[in-house]
Amino acid sequence: MPQPFLPGQDTRPLFDAIARRYDLLNLLLSGGLDRYWRAKAVGELELTTSSRVLDAATGTGDVALTVARAMPGVTVVGLDQSMAMLHLAYTKLRRRPAWPAIQLVQGDCEALPFGEGMFDAVTIAFGIRNVQRRAAALAEFRRVLKPGGQLVVLELGQPRSALMARIFRCYGGWLLPRIGGLLSSRDAYRYLPASMQAFPDPVLFLAELAAGGFEKLEHQAFMGGMVGLFHGRRNSCAMNGSGQGSPRGSF
Ligand SMILES: C[S@@+](CC[C@H](N)C(=O)[O-])C[C@H]1O[C@@H](n2cnc3c(N)ncnc32)[C@H](O)[C@@H]1O
Repeated sequence: MPQPFLPGQDTRPLFDAIARRYDLLNLLLSGGLDRYWRAKAVGELELTTSSRVLDAATGTGDVALTVARAMPGVTVVGLDQSMAMLHLAYTKLRRRPAWPAIQLVQGDCEALPFGEGMFDAVTIAFGIRNVQRRAAALAEFRRVLKPGGQLVVLELGQPRSALMARIFRCYGGWLLPRIGGLLSSRDAYRYLPASMQAFPDPVLFLAELAAGGFEKLEHQAFMGGMVGLFHGRRNSCAMNGSGQGSPRGSF
């Protein structure tokens, strides 16, 4: 019998397995709101005609495409660990007018295949929750950002309002694995609510971002706190050996 996926495990087999139906399930399970949240995240970026943006954990490339459309001249690298997801991104994006501005790269957020200070902005949508060593990924995002570069994180978490928490318990615990099981993989769609529960609350995640060398931190919550949009900038402190800096500013 297959073992259930647990938060903190290697999620590559999971995303390879659900890639084919990923976009469809996103649409069905969020009622199309996922597109709105991604657009909000991209709206946080201050792009110029020469900006270079890394969309980490790009999946099927929706954020990369939205960034490439947002400003002529921008270049976007969409990076993901899953070849199945990247293949779908390629199939979906290659006929879009914005395609020449996009590059797709297989890689790991915890060991990015890019030099220091290469990007003006890093985005990650619904991805950081799935990374095994979050602090390592944040350190990598900081390393590849220019000083003052923007980090935008969109992520699902535990709803804070009591009503949304009740709705989420029914939806996440019962309905979601069943719909996921019908159209894709029940285990994968059991993992989704479990990983949302395992993700730190916004105050703790903001503290992780500050410890990871980001400043001017901001957070917006949607859907009673079930969706969080985090924005920060790479600080200019020297980082010590443990990857911890002493951030300026507060959140
Ligand atoms: C829920 S999907 C989100 C995809 C896309 N960003 C979106 O908005 O729909 C999470 C993605 O994170 C990727 N991922 C998880 N851990 C990763 C890692 N360490 N490095 C690169 N990609 C990772 C998975 O392969 C998957 O495509």
